[in-house]
Amino acid sequence: MDLHLHLTEGEPAYRQIVKQIEARVLSGELPPGTRLPTERDLAQQLRVNRSTVSVAYDELRAKGLIRSVRGSGTRVGEDAWGLDFRIPDWAGYMSQGIFQPTLPMVRRIWDENRRSANINLARGEMSADLWPTEQLRTLVAQMPARMELGYGDPRGEQSLRSAVSAHLASEYGLRVPDNQILITAGSQQGLLLVTQSLLRPGDAVALEKPSYAYSLPIFAAAGIRMFPVPLDDQGLMPEEVVALHRRHRIRMVFVTPTHQNPTGTTLAPDRRRRLIEICTDLRIPIVEDDAHGALTLEEGARAAQPLAAMSGAEQQVIYLGTLSKTFAPGLRVGWMTGPKAVIERIAGIREQMDFGISGITQAIAAQVLTTGIWEENVERLRQALRERRDIMADAIERYFGDELAITVPQGSYHIWGKLRRPMRDKDLLEAAVRHGVVVAPGTVYGAEPGFVRLTYASSPKAEIVEGIRRLRDAVTQC
Ligand SMILES: Cc1ncc(COP(=O)(O)O)c(C=O)c1O
Repeated sequence: MDLHLHLTEGEPAYRQIVKQIEARVLSGELPPGTRLPTERDLAQQLRVNRSTVSVAYDELRAKGLIRSVRGSGTRVGEDAWGLDFRIPDWAGYMSQGIFQPTLPMVRRIWDENRRSANINLARGEMSADLWPTEQLRTLVAQMPARMELGYGDPRGEQSLRSAVSAHLASEYGLRVPDNQILITAGSQQGLLLVTQSLLRPGDAVALEKPSYAYSLPIFAAAGIRMFPVPLDDQGLMPEEVVALHRRHRIRMVFVTPTHQNPTGTTLAPDRRRRLIEICTDLRIPIVEDDAHGALTLEEGARAAQPLAAMSGAEQQVIYLGTLSKTFAPGLRVGWMTGPKAVIERIAGIREQMDFGISGITQAIAAQVLTTGIWEENVERLRQALRERRDIMADAIERYFGDELAITVPQGSYHIWGKLRRPMRDKDLLEAAVRHGVVVAPGTVYGAEPGFVRLTYASSPKAEIVEGIRRLRDAVTQC
């Protein structure tokens, strides 16, 4: 439950808790029957004494808003909600939207990351000291006088699509003409567009287990049945797609072949070829998420060849790219490539949805890709991330030894670890937070309990070792 206390404002903490819960019950945000956290959990979350929460719950019980039943915890009273008849039934509306509520664990991670005292090893984004602020300032000052300020082309501005086309050819050997490129607000939106445009409720999608956390709610909201393909250190196992297809008639494969999030694995070249062969034979399209592809950290190493650039894959693969990991996630610029007819169909839907992203942002992104700024920035990021990755891997070795098994990733932002003594993910997160560090437990990504994703990009370099030390203390205490 997302409560915020302002302890300096003079109002006692228990009253703030009462007021906030009461407002939520009356507005319908907490409908009748909703289970409230235990006194102990809420006290931990708010960092107050358990007795403070006890007093607040007592008062709410006295008002008839909540009730506690032995064995079923504390819940919002069945007849409590709707006391304020001027307010629409928001809870009813909210429960009917097509997207599921954000997972409580994900909300908790977000909330805890906002607290400045915590070290953030959870968010999949670069820390502010890695943002290209100065380059952007210079670039914006030199922007061309003419920019698209109308609704523009729903596929994206011609200048940016040309820039992306040249970028894909030089960086990844992926040759696609401008008319097979659609500009998106990031790969996340690319996946949403693909799902909404090309799939129907009940369709079966095969995807890596574990997988990118935010792909799961997109599929769930579209009524897609998700079937996991296991991974090992060489990436997903292509033959599993055949087995799944036999049983469930797979309609699409979603894969992150390079520096997979969360495991960091990269799909081996022979498995890439085999996956394409299988999908060609079975006529299954592949959606390739290459958000992390350019961030290979070994010195002098080039990005792995995307599936979309392999021979035979031209008509098979929808490729998703983004500036989020290599430049700045706040720019919200990404792209999608695919067969021309598919891109046109999705552009049509784009027009129905939002007409595309801002022409100003697109003009900036085109400059980033054509002036050498992107290359310069990626080189700087690679160096910084390599250094942070090594610092984190050393700290894990020092503080955990064989209590946490990791494979040092070749690229991108994350180290994926398996605890030797598994614990419940909720316990892991709560213990970590109590020690002032935020991490992402593996179940967020659909993994079994006992795994954890540690991001070395999201905290300044100087905090990484301390973050791992705090995590070790948390795990030891658990
Ligand atoms: C695999 C993967 N795909 C997509 C995204 C989202 O990227 P974007 O900001 O481009 O929407 C992320 C971000 O963490 C990611 O890890």
